[in-house]
Amino acid sequence: MTATLTPPGAERGPRRWPLVGNLPAFARDPLAFFESLRDGHGDWVPWALGPKRNVLVSRPEHAGELLGAVEKTFRPMELGWAFHQLLGDGVVVATGEEWRRKRALVQPAVRPRQVRSYAATMVECADALVRGWSDGDRIDVHREMAGLTQRIAVRTLFGSDAAGREAPISAAMATAQRELGAEFRGVTLFLPPWVQTPGRRRLRQAVAVLDREIDHVIREHEAARAGGTERDDLLSRLLAARDDTGAPLTRKELRDESITLYIGGHETTSTTLTWAWQLLSGAPAARDRLTEELDRVLGGRLPAYEDYERLPFTRQVVKEALRLYPPVWLISAVAGDGAAIGGRAVPAGTAVWTSPWSMHRDGRWFPEPEAFRPERWDAGAEGQADEQAWIPFGGGPRACLGARFALVEAALVLAVLARRFHLDTGPEPVPVFPGLTLQPARPVPALLRQP
Ligand code: HEM
Repeated sequence: MTATLTPPGAERGPRRWPLVGNLPAFARDPLAFFESLRDGHGDWVPWALGPKRNVLVSRPEHAGELLGAVEKTFRPMELGWAFHQLLGDGVVVATGEEWRRKRALVQPAVRPRQVRSYAATMVECADALVRGWSDGDRIDVHREMAGLTQRIAVRTLFGSDAAGREAPISAAMATAQRELGAEFRGVTLFLPPWVQTPGRRRLRQAVAVLDREIDHVIREHEAARAGGTERDDLLSRLLAARDDTGAPLTRKELRDESITLYIGGHETTSTTLTWAWQLLSGAPAARDRLTEELDRVLGGRLPAYEDYERLPFTRQVVKEALRLYPPVWLISAVAGDGAAIGGRAVPAGTAVWTSPWSMHRDGRWFPEPEAFRPERWDAGAEGQADEQAWIPFGGGPRACLGARFALVEAALVLAVLARRFHLDTGPEPVPVFPGLTLQPARPVPALLRQP
């Protein structure tokens, strides 16, 4: 599926329905819709969501310009009621000066130097999981990866002694995430905040549980800090953070950022791992190369943070899984005054979209775009992959804060589990469901085999 470049000005976009514009096609299958815009109408395609003006850009340099201009001439898309309920005014939701302050406060907690201290927890949790597996067992890959990344999220955020609170926090986060996804893809997105629906009630209940549990954890951390105990988790780093004026995050802000980091990082990483296993299962040569690298570099021991750099092929498997199944499959921003892309003025109020899904599956930037080929990322594999077109973590000022965390987590988990087992998911393709993240549309059963 290779798109052709249409000269600027020649694109008219797809035909629109009165009032709703292209909403029906977008709502039916947004992934196919974006691909059809790219293939049928070029690299700059106007389309309509109800009365709102939209443009899809499909060239890497245009996506780069868009992402680079957010918080300058573009503003982030307004997130709905459900996001505000759950994430409060956390860094994902905040805009302008408030966002700048919060980003500066949160960023130090997820720097590579700090991710090193979370790596041991990632490996410990993965090792505990694999110890419960036996040759010939059947598992549901997605469920196992969700459980694992949930455990890692709670422990890296709140510390290993928060294990007792893991069950209520994880259950409430799972409910909240489900309802957020339902709102994101459903008509409720357009309902005013005062309209009650069963989904919104479930979300409120989950948020109440999270508020209670996280308040406990924050008070425990505050007490430990007051007693002079330095801890190694994300929340402790947030507690220690100070803004330009020397002010710390308030308790409400700590709550918002804790939930934001959990929601931002958990499902995105669990789906990345699920897709990586599914792809590896159908690619025996890649699996063999992975096993060879793990045997050679680790020689039977568990990986540590330092091994991340020593496992290039493991990293390439993650990178290629993120190319084929970018968990965040669309990114958009709204033009303000003076907005322009590719030298072309964008009228204020226009929503400009780019889709990591359709960008990553474009033959111009990735030959044989539908094929799982981690070797395309080999050093010196000229012309096999365009780095600029690989945008699973977005880019610009609002690029993912947790990219390093996620990449290290996915590679180390893969290394711990693949050392011990092949996950055979069978030949049936797994359909995708573009919810809040790019999910498998059905369970992904696998047979465990020792290599
Ligand atoms: C494979 C895993 C992940 C993927 C694919 C991913 C992807 C993204 C993308 C595309 C954005 C930008 C969205 C936009 O511009 O609209 C983003 C933002 C963000 N991500 Fe991630 N993410 C992942 C993991 C994580 C993790 C592990 C954390 C936390 C530890 C995290 C925290 C955040 C935060 C806080 C933001 C908001 C940044 C801002 O608005 O300034 N993400 N992520």
